[in-house]
Amino acid sequence: MSRAVFCRVSWAPCLRLGPRIFSARISSIVPPSKTHIEVLGQQFPVDDYTNITPAITSKTALKLHLQPSHPLSTLRGLIESAYPDFTHASSMSPLVTPFKNFDELSFPADHPGRAVTDSYYVNRNMMLRTHTSAHEVEMFKKGETKWLLTADVYRRDEIDASHYPIFHQVEGARIFDTDANGLKEVEEDNARLSSLLAQANIIIEDIPHISPTNPVQHDHDPVFSELVAKNLKLSLNNLILKVFGAASNISKEQPLRVRWIEAYFPFTSPSFEVEVFFQGKWLEILGCGVIRQATLDTAGVQNKIGWAFGLGLERIAMVLFSIPDIRLFWSQDPRFLSQFEDGKINVFQPYSKYPSCFKDVSFWVPKDFELHENDFCDLVRDTAGDLVEDVKRIDHFVHPKTNRTSLCYRVNYRSMDRSLSNEEINHVQSQVISRLKEQFGVEIR
Ligand code: DAH
Repeated sequence: MSRAVFCRVSWAPCLRLGPRIFSARISSIVPPSKTHIEVLGQQFPVDDYTNITPAITSKTALKLHLQPSHPLSTLRGLIESAYPDFTHASSMSPLVTPFKNFDELSFPADHPGRAVTDSYYVNRNMMLRTHTSAHEVEMFKKGETKWLLTADVYRRDEIDASHYPIFHQVEGARIFDTDANGLKEVEEDNARLSSLLAQANIIIEDIPHISPTNPVQHDHDPVFSELVAKNLKLSLNNLILKVFGAASNISKEQPLRVRWIEAYFPFTSPSFEVEVFFQGKWLEILGCGVIRQATLDTAGVQNKIGWAFGLGLERIAMVLFSIPDIRLFWSQDPRFLSQFEDGKINVFQPYSKYPSCFKDVSFWVPKDFELHENDFCDLVRDTAGDLVEDVKRIDHFVHPKTNRTSLCYRVNYRSMDRSLSNEEINHVQSQVISRLKEQFGVEIR
């Protein structure tokens, strides 16, 4: 049975398989002898929430978005250049408390994003941020009123060419005084942004700024909230024009197309998602909305109203630079890195496609135990690193008499940099099998 869980750009519901587990880890990722783990040079005691793997820990310091000439860094720079008068932050530690990641942003206690099957926990009190919104309160507490923040974010996920457990987001926010001066500031900015858009080759499919299903907050003046939502949309339409206009051949015949969709986020109302029509497809690129007053209250900010957005970098960089596999962003291969220049959107020329090697593994899951797909994927990722291209569940069967569950996964191994020998892959696959038996107690079929 499929159920609604959450997508990577926006916590918007999407369909995926698998139960969510809210407490008590179901597998022992950390060997019982280990009492502490090290993340970013700090020691943390392990507990029943600990599920961060060495494959993930080893990447927490890399900050691809700051590596000169890396596509993610170029895209960050392009976005920052659209907000020249905003503060630009980009080096915040990914270690945050669950309180900061969720509670400060009004996430309910039973929100699926909190589950150990969906997020990486160092232990019950510390996790890897799942989104850049985790720093909203902190930024506002510092007194920032217009800011962008770029960072690596972490979510446990399936494995394929467009999903990786680490990706990058840019968060942006702007707040205005709720007095006559603030009102004047929004109105003037709306006029300026509207005139910029009026000259551009862009078709915007808009929806009402406020509606019964996407309501104004009860403590907001509806007129002000509407103007702020309008400012958010105008600002983002201009950003999209800058980012996609730089790369696509926008013409009178082929204008850029953007569409606005109603959304829900615990920390904004009204809320929206934005899609861009690019290379024949609608691409969901960001979530945004009018900031929930509770967030500003928590930050101690008074008499202000504002907007925020969160945008995923990989998805946009993949289409702009024609990068076919998300693992390539992590490649250290000079044949990849040397193709890019700081500030330029160069189209990636694949240097070679090496052969795939498929390996299946079928097993019985122990009775009264649920093996979540993300647990399987993390085990494979931790064993095979970036040699794994995708993982698919190809069979799921419950024995009618014993009620035992049997699963079969197909792992596709393919390096982006070299040919793999059968021997090497057999070795990796046998390690996957031993760890499956050890960590989850499965019985290989
Ligand atoms: N944090 C959300 C995510 O990762 C995206 C988002 C939605 C950011 C709405 C925002 C916002 O700032 O207002 O999926």
